[in-house]
Amino acid sequence: MITTVSQVREHIGQEVELQGWCYNFRSSGKIFFLQFRDGTGRVQVVFSKSEISSDQWDLLDQLRLESSVIVRGIVKAEPRAPSGFELQGVSFKIVQLAQEGYPIGKKEHGPEFLLDNRHLWLRAESQWAVQRVRDRIITSTYEWFHENGFIKFDTPILTPTSCEGTTELFEMDYFGEGEKVEQGDEVEKVGPLGKGEPEKVETSGGTKAYLAQSGQLYLEAGIMSLGRAFDFGPVFRAEKSKTRRHLTEFWMMDAEAAYVEHEGNMAIQEALICRIVADVLAQCAYELKVLERDIEPLKKVQAPFVHLTHEEATKKLRELGSDIGERADLGADDETLLTQHYDRPIFIEKYPAEVKAFYMKRDPHDDTRVLNNDLLAPEGYGEIIGGSQREDDYETLLKRIHDHGLDPKPFDWYLDLRRYGSVPHSGFGYGLERIVAWTCGLHHVRETIPFPRLVNRINP
Ligand code: 4AD
Ligand code: MG
Repeated sequence: MITTVSQVREHIGQEVELQGWCYNFRSSGKIFFLQFRDGTGRVQVVFSKSEISSDQWDLLDQLRLESSVIVRGIVKAEPRAPSGFELQGVSFKIVQLAQEGYPIGKKEHGPEFLLDNRHLWLRAESQWAVQRVRDRIITSTYEWFHENGFIKFDTPILTPTSCEGTTELFEMDYFGEGEKVEQGDEVEKVGPLGKGEPEKVETSGGTKAYLAQSGQLYLEAGIMSLGRAFDFGPVFRAEKSKTRRHLTEFWMMDAEAAYVEHEGNMAIQEALICRIVADVLAQCAYELKVLERDIEPLKKVQAPFVHLTHEEATKKLRELGSDIGERADLGADDETLLTQHYDRPIFIEKYPAEVKAFYMKRDPHDDTRVLNNDLLAPEGYGEIIGGSQREDDYETLLKRIHDHGLDPKPFDWYLDLRRYGSVPHSGFGYGLERIVAWTCGLHHVRETIPFPRLVNRINP
């Protein structure tokens, strides 16, 4: 019967067939140890020369690393094996004999070499484990939101405006100036929902577009229909900085909720992060072991998280030896320093307005500060979430757009949300790769995404 490594426990004493790859092997002359993996896990298959045909033994002799193979064997419990099982090999087939010279060997490779071979490095057990934790975090996020009344709402990647400041935008020509655009007849023949009168489509080629930095602004439109919504997708930042926390393409989850204010917004973030960490601990124990992640700090991620105002945080940082200014944004080093002083995640609230985005609502007790929060992960990981209550007054928001030197015209649709049925509302966005790096205990975010895009890397 065909099964998978993850299912062999159901078949002790039976002969099974597994389809996968050989990641290592060694032979003692009479016994051949094949290290087998199939995507679900890893298991050793032991072939004895005396128990298989000489043709089969000769075939084993030709094997090369990373060949794709199909094996048959009898499942045995083996307490000494990491998987707890072993197969007594019965037969063996090579699907494709790998070429000689698989680039990734047992010797230590540098990070650039491994990233150049990312398409193959993904097969390493550590990288397998990271991708499985990443999948768990994504799944838990969807589950938690759906259990709490949030609807998945897809926001566009091609946008006419910036969301998070204009310095880190990837700009592109969205059809050249005066370029002829073909009239699509499909659009013209039918009205909305296939009913009613068709509309004439305007063909205005020739404008600038930007890759989305965050879906937030569109999500704000979504919640005026759905109440609570979240998006999840790739976002882009032309970050020129080469740090362990920055990618130029990364996955963000933005969430937004109507009638939720600053305090409620942080309560949502706290509950979501607690759920994610609890699920990773419960369901990725093996993966964390492979990654040699010390799980004690993760077990301490429990509500209530620490709350500091920006004012308190900068004061504390100066006590700890930082030279941070009273109204400065926290640098990566400041975040690292601060998180080493607490064993729970830290909310930092109410930043000076001048270091944050135009859409944040001001603090009614101090108009120079905003009702925002960053959430810092412990153990030096730093910012994983940025969120805020949004400015919901039309005149004030228009003024902020002007004050930030932005052209109000492409924001007209966004201003409509304040013209028609505006409500207090708040939201936040998490950086998936930063959460994966933290939970997996990785130093750099580049290993958390299948194909990292960095300032100096677009390949493979
Ligand atoms: O703090 P940011 O810039 O917030 C926003 O974009 C808001 N519009 C979100 C919202 O309120 N809906 O980004 C959110 C998170 C950060 O906390 C960080 O975790 C991650 O996105 N992030 C990055 N991750 C990897 N590489 C980068 N270059 C990142 N920039 C931000
Ligand atoms: Mg931020």
